[in-house]
Amino acid sequence: MKSLLVLSLLVLGTQACCDSTKLFSELQQQGASITLTESTPRIDPFDFNDSAKSVLVNGFWIYYENIDFNPIDEQPRKVFYAYGLNATKDLPEGFGNKLSSVRKLQDGLDKDKNRITFYEGRDHTGREFSTNTSVPVIAELHGKISSLITSGEKPWTVYTDVCYQGDHVCLYPHSVIDLENLKQLVGYYPNVEDVDHISDNSIKSVREGCYSDNVHRTTVLKKIPLI
Ligand SMILES: *[C@@H]1O[C@H](CO)[C@@H](O)[C@H](O)[C@H]1NC(C)=O
Ligand SMILES: *[C@@H]1O[C@H](CO)[C@@H](O)[C@H](O)[C@H]1NC(C)=O
Ligand SMILES: *[C@@H]1O[C@H](CO)[C@@H](O)[C@H](O)[C@H]1NC(C)=O
Repeated sequence: MKSLLVLSLLVLGTQACCDSTKLFSELQQQGASITLTESTPRIDPFDFNDSAKSVLVNGFWIYYENIDFNPIDEQPRKVFYAYGLNATKDLPEGFGNKLSSVRKLQDGLDKDKNRITFYEGRDHTGREFSTNTSVPVIAELHGKISSLITSGEKPWTVYTDVCYQGDHVCLYPHSVIDLENLKQLVGYYPNVEDVDHISDNSIKSVREGCYSDNVHRTTVLKKIPLI
């Protein structure tokens, strides 16, 4: 009995540990490849700048045309999303040979963990701030949040002022990343202006759970669209 318990804990641990993405120089996972397990603001040191054409993914990963996750002070650049367990994708036409940085969603594979990740730019670009707990004063990205992603089944309440003051709205996850072995819930918000009660660059605190009568559920997306 004891050894069974240990085994199941190990399996859970393994699942949480193994976010990774493999980049291939040719379509359909052919050619040269590199494997990344962490967010990578520059791919060029791997001699892989602008040469990936397809990917294999474990977890939820975001791919950017420019280094540093498409910084917001540069003109808009392409973003591509891929998620799943051993899921394979070709980068869209026009994106192939332009990939320069890659970022993972923390705990993207772990449906027992709840997390909210904020981004400086729309479409999950620029700097990020990620938390698995309430934050009364979001110091990083203070008043600079334009998009976000929730993962796990819990809702989060965001506020336009510090210490859970100001206007507020409760954000429920609603997109099920429906994989054979994993039904991860994500709330996919590429533009906070799509949500009533908050505006661009207004979020200043966040609380785990729903503490508002204003409730927003993201559109149910079978597939997260390519941008
Ligand atoms: C990547 O390669 C492209 C095309 O060769 C080049 O324009 C760009 O500056 C390179 N980026 C980096 C970060 O080296
Ligand atoms: C992914 O593929 C590898 C290699 O084929 C295999 O060893 C591994 O078990 C697979 N993982 C999942 C979660 O399917
Ligand atoms: C939140 O994240 C921290 C650091 O990654 C971790 O130590 C902690 O256990 C997490 N808490 C929850 C509730 O998942």
